[in-house]
Amino acid sequence: MSTFSIAIDGPAGAGKSSIAKELANQLQCIYIDTGAMYRSVGYYCISQGIDYANEEQVEQALSELHLKLTLEEEGQQIFLNEKNISLLIRNNQVAAAASKVATYAAVRKALVKMQQEMSKSTSVVMDGRDIGTVVLPHATLKIFLTASVEERAQRRYKEYVQKGEKPCLETLKVEIKERDYQDSHRKISPLKKAEDAIEVDTTYMTIDEIVKQIIDLLKRRL
Ligand code: C5P
Repeated sequence: MSTFSIAIDGPAGAGKSSIAKELANQLQCIYIDTGAMYRSVGYYCISQGIDYANEEQVEQALSELHLKLTLEEEGQQIFLNEKNISLLIRNNQVAAAASKVATYAAVRKALVKMQQEMSKSTSVVMDGRDIGTVVLPHATLKIFLTASVEERAQRRYKEYVQKGEKPCLETLKVEIKERDYQDSHRKISPLKKAEDAIEVDTTYMTIDEIVKQIIDLLKRRL
């Protein structure tokens, strides 16, 4: 198979990361979770007592921050200044901080540059909010995943329950709506479907069905 890139965008809980991971696994290529990179910046601010609502402070902190993504047996890992923070970034507090720092031009510029470098001359599946529109505008295939707010909240709910937590479904719905609003209304690189992206509604589909559909679409382009 020649080198290819698949850009997967969509709102929180649409199934991007599960689908992107499985695609990368079946296509034997690299998976880049760009949300984890924004979460890492949010996490750094929280852990260092930096006010993430203060753009100037976050911009200054960027130079102290070194991110590295690796692929281990347990999946993709993210290291912040040599510390593995993969599990520490998976909570609502970090998600809210990520969504805020993702509105800052300097943060986006730095992370987009890293993402473009990581995907140079190798096949990748990359997921996020601006992959088809900004990071990989010439991607071989662009997919925009959606699902109803109810379904996305249910998925998050199940994830938390599996981790032994007791979330409130209604609160999850509100948080998802807030994040959707912030992600799609920000000035720089808002979440939106690229003109040439194919929209897939995952509400009533299984991961296997979606992965198969995307691989079929990719094969037709190679
Ligand atoms: O995908 P995930 O929920 O991990 O992303 C966390 C936040 O990072 C999103 O709500 C969004 O604000 C931001 N993000 C972004 N651009 C990307 C990936 C994530 O703005 N490419």
